[in-house]
Amino acid sequence: MPINASREQIGRLVLFTKVESLEDFNRIIEQAQALSLFVSAAVAVLLAVWMQRGITGPIRLLADHMKGFSMRKPNPPLKLKSKDEINELAQTFEELTDQLRKNDFDQKEFLQNASHELKTPLMAIQGNAEGILDEVIVGNEVEHSLQVIVNETQRLKKIVQDLSYLTRLETVEESFTYEFVHINRILQEAMTAIKPLAYQNQLTLEYDGDSEIQARVDVDKMKQAFLNILGNALRFASSLIEIRMWKDESQVTVEIQDDGTGFGENPGRVFDRFYTGDQSGSGIGLAITKTIVEKHHGEIYAEIHKKGGRVVITLPLLHG
Ligand SMILES: Nc1ncnc2c1ncn2[C@@H]1O[C@H](COP(=O)(O)OP(=O)(O)OP(=O)(O)O)[C@@H](O)[C@H]1O
Ligand SMILES: [Mg+2]
Repeated sequence: MPINASREQIGRLVLFTKVESLEDFNRIIEQAQALSLFVSAAVAVLLAVWMQRGITGPIRLLADHMKGFSMRKPNPPLKLKSKDEINELAQTFEELTDQLRKNDFDQKEFLQNASHELKTPLMAIQGNAEGILDEVIVGNEVEHSLQVIVNETQRLKKIVQDLSYLTRLETVEESFTYEFVHINRILQEAMTAIKPLAYQNQLTLEYDGDSEIQARVDVDKMKQAFLNILGNALRFASSLIEIRMWKDESQVTVEIQDDGTGFGENPGRVFDRFYTGDQSGSGIGLAITKTIVEKHHGEIYAEIHKKGGRVVITLPLLHG
């Protein structure tokens, strides 16, 4: 509205335009709207196609790869070009199958070893029993054969018992009961148990340890772990078994060492199931010990010291 200096209305302003121009303007706006709608629809379709190729393609490849999985025939690992979650999924699947194959291999090896270990005493029992029945073994030899049968039966029983104990330890079935106890007393109890045998074999047991060390352990199982090592040392030592125990801030260390023949070239093997260097045992004792130590979150290793064998255990003083 036109106004004067005192802001009073002094007239009116009237604007005229042709109706066709307005209609033209409206048409242009409508056309622009239609075009943008079309362009966004096209972009959405293109995006969907691209996403489908990018995501469903690798998923389909992975699914086919999974379907083709076989325990007997290993298939080549799947290699995806992308570096996204699907690639991560494919890698996890590869790791899983590797683990599965390893477990399968371990299980078969274990069964083979176990059946071999059981077969040897069974054959000795069968041979001697048949010899007596067929009267091939006669006279004084009968008593000897019967003694072989009894010994081999006991050996068989021990293998089966140790094996089932080891299997129980490795599965959740066998629960561990941890107590906060003086672990040096458990070691001393195990030493007391073997003292008579050491005496019989003219072996000296030497102990050097901190007076009181408390740790969270399963008393019976830890004693069994120590007994297995001490039992071996008894067998192999020529005159001396030295036992040491000490602690630092976070862990306790136990060292059992003898002056015997040592472990040969590869000391780590003594913890393998059924590994026997001299065939006099069944090779399960140290596998049991290792499992017990590891269930306590500890570590165990074997080494050669001055030609003799030395087994070292470290255990955390506290664990979950
Ligand atoms: N102190 C040692 N000195 C030399 N060799 C050892 C010693 N301790 C273990 N070994 C070797 O390691 C092997 C495995 O020991 P491990 O205790 O597991 O089985 P084992 O004594 O043969 O039988 P068992 O199951 O009855 O214990 C032994 O057969 C022996 O060859
Ligand atoms: Mg043993």
